[in-house]
Amino acid sequence: MKHALIPGSFDPMTLGHLDLVKRARALYGKVTVAVLVNDQKQYMCSMEERVALARMTLADYPDVDVVSDRGLLVDVFERVGADVIVKGVRNEVDRAYEEEMARVNLARDPRAVTVLLEAADDYEDVSSTRVRELLARGETTEGLLAPAVADYLKDKLASK
Ligand code: PNS
Repeated sequence: MKHALIPGSFDPMTLGHLDLVKRARALYGKVTVAVLVNDQKQYMCSMEERVALARMTLADYPDVDVVSDRGLLVDVFERVGADVIVKGVRNEVDRAYEEEMARVNLARDPRAVTVLLEAADDYEDVSSTRVRELLARGETTEGLLAPAVADYLKDKLASK
């Protein structure tokens, strides 16, 4: 059994992310999700909320750990004892960005190899950005978010 680390912003975790977790779990056996900070992004949800929403999405997978950290991905990779970093890519723009991130992480830690998995067809157009836009317009996020996550975020936006 190998241990895969799936890092991301998860603002919020989508069903596309869940599909990636399931596939990494089938490939490697053990998965840890790391909720981290991307300095390029402004977040809708706090770190604590992003962790809670990831746990809600992963409710049926209690063997998948969720950790959070405000530091470097490679430090989390070493701390949890992961063997591989797994990221999903939906298109060529994602791929170019993720390949660059993979090189940065590998330069910092020669053990921190990244494997990129193609998004399944059903999830090719699912992104946290699209989910946030739909929520802001009051449109349905059915098929994009776990129902408990959709409910939480609708309530959060309604109480603003
Ligand atoms: O879901 P995202 O926003 O594409 O995830 C990007 C993330 C959070 C994995 C990336 O920004 C990250 O690894 N942040 C932690 C800080 C770090 O290690 N950066 C490495 C490149 S400078």
